[in-house]
Amino acid sequence: MSIKTQELHPGFVAEASFTDLSAALNEDAITSIQAAIDAYPVLVFRNQCLTDAQLRDFAARFGPLEIGRSAARPGRRRLAIPQIGDISNLDEDNAVRALDDRRRLDSMGNRLWHTDASYMPVPVVLGLLHAVTLPPPSPFGNGETEFADMRAAYDDLPQETKDAVDPLTAEHDVFWSRGQVGFTEFPSGEREQYPPSRQRLVRRHPVTGRKSLYLSAHASHITGWPVADGRLLLFDLNTHATQRQFVYRHTWRVGDLVIWDNRWTMHRGRPHDESKPRDLRRATTLDTGSSLEEAT
Ligand code: OGA
Ligand code: MN
Repeated sequence: MSIKTQELHPGFVAEASFTDLSAALNEDAITSIQAAIDAYPVLVFRNQCLTDAQLRDFAARFGPLEIGRSAARPGRRRLAIPQIGDISNLDEDNAVRALDDRRRLDSMGNRLWHTDASYMPVPVVLGLLHAVTLPPPSPFGNGETEFADMRAAYDDLPQETKDAVDPLTAEHDVFWSRGQVGFTEFPSGEREQYPPSRQRLVRRHPVTGRKSLYLSAHASHITGWPVADGRLLLFDLNTHATQRQFVYRHTWRVGDLVIWDNRWTMHRGRPHDESKPRDLRRATTLDTGSSLEEAT
């Protein structure tokens, strides 16, 4: 089986022809979805209706799954399956969280351009995000998710800039990204549990060979440089990489499943009506090694 795709953003985002992802897919189907992701690092499936267990089982066909920072915390949780990330504004009782709710404030870091879990020594690869409940429009945004093409952004740099950034590494720290949105009250023990990690600034796709900028709100500075110089370089690269021509904005419909490859993309959530539920579920695959171990 090979899935048909229709481009939504040239060379970056495609919508896949209908496949019922809750059905038992054979290895051929998984191989063809993986090939589509290698060509289009953001791949959209419409009209899916997946339980959390079905989302977990489908995602697990692409690699071992992450248990995210929030699911790893002790205490009661809204979702039963730890491999399913709760990308919602709801509490354990399905009530909309208050504006000053700590978990909500922590999750506001997702509104900054980022790649998931780049603060982990072995970061993640695929994000699979499924829309269950969506909020109505609001004056500041409708809860869309934007994706930026880090391969196109790299290609567009002047050659001398490419040569200068190719060998660099950056320090990624979740406390830096959360600090940018004013969230500093981490549950005790989390600072020790999630120390900063070093990642290559430029990565190379193992299948296509194409290079890509590996940026994230978690990236705080460049290894071995004065903090100010590194931070300002990262600001410049982020501004460059998130120009409109590199960005696809996904307007969610209930039943959408969007798969993205965190290695070649950044993403961010957009504002929405905070008084209404927004409920998405995410499964995430782990990489097998650090970006530092990759061939350049
Ligand atoms: C994520 C994320 C943004 C959004 O699920 O990793 O950053 O729009 N989501 O909810
Ligand atoms: Mn994210």
